[in-house]
Amino acid sequence: MNRNELARIAHAMVAKGRGLLAADESTGTIKKRFDKIKVEGTEENRRAYRELLFTTPGMADFISGVILYDETLRQSTKSGERFADLLTRLGVIPGIKVDGGTKPMPNFPGEVITEGLDGLPARLAEYHKLGARFAKWRAVIDIGDGIPTRTCIETNADLLARYAALCQEAEIVPIVEPEVLMDGGHSLARCEEVTEQVLTTVFDRLHAQRVYLEGIVLKPNMVISGQKATNRASPAEVAEATLRCLKRHVPAAVPGIAFLSGGQNEQEATLHLDLMNRAGSLPWLLSFSYGRALQQSALATWGGAAASVASAQAEFLKRARLNSLAAGGRYESALEKQAA
Ligand code: 13P
Repeated sequence: MNRNELARIAHAMVAKGRGLLAADESTGTIKKRFDKIKVEGTEENRRAYRELLFTTPGMADFISGVILYDETLRQSTKSGERFADLLTRLGVIPGIKVDGGTKPMPNFPGEVITEGLDGLPARLAEYHKLGARFAKWRAVIDIGDGIPTRTCIETNADLLARYAALCQEAEIVPIVEPEVLMDGGHSLARCEEVTEQVLTTVFDRLHAQRVYLEGIVLKPNMVISGQKATNRASPAEVAEATLRCLKRHVPAAVPGIAFLSGGQNEQEATLHLDLMNRAGSLPWLLSFSYGRALQQSALATWGGAAASVASAQAEFLKRARLNSLAAGGRYESALEKQAA
């Protein structure tokens, strides 16, 4: 394992006000997004949409890396350049989702486990050859009556740590993503309590597997009220609780934290990140690894029409630019009014 190389890549993923685009929606998930804009979920439509994102002029100023799905890593632009080569040429690091999605956990109703460790070393070796320099594995923790259980948290943390160790062995930086969902009606305090349990357990297991912390990127949820909560906490409260939780549980050796958006709308996700980056000096870089919060407007504007590609790219670039400002604590809500 080349530790210097892992640390260099991990740092580049979150450095200089740049962040990650999560474009690793599985075939099923992207179909759901396409259904909303009445676009058929064909391989060619998925390819065309990803080409729209990756060829957005100026994107590389704000986006340090892109998380791809297996199919996308093997696809090319219309003119025949492999997406991984295009991104690398632009100075954007290609990454790859390697988990196999979640499955119901036997004996634990309402809880899920992430699959995908079987055969992972061989897949990582192939992904490295195809140009991927970082990977992602998402563990999902839901909050509800009597859940999450300790067993669910511990089992998911063990899997994340095993995955991270295998990635580093293959000289691929692992994004460690334990997502506490914001579905449901829970309070911010309950989210903080669960996120604390999850992060302590995850770092305990990363230590147990001797994972090199300087060579990972953490991708957590923010500490936030559930979507259906009455009296949802304010942006200032979200920023304060999230920072408190991260400071208590994320070692300073971790170079960067890149949040998921998890169902926040585009402006909320940007504002929360900005408020945290205004809070003074922090032990790690705080950036974004957004899927929906970078793509929602772009997808709606595109709607599958070739004639709308340029305006969809402008929407994507606007979100990338505003999130880049937020990663430096320099975002203003008034900027939302500017045309894309
Ligand atoms: P969202 O930002 O849409 O939550 O997606 C990020 C991601 O990669 C989830 O795994």
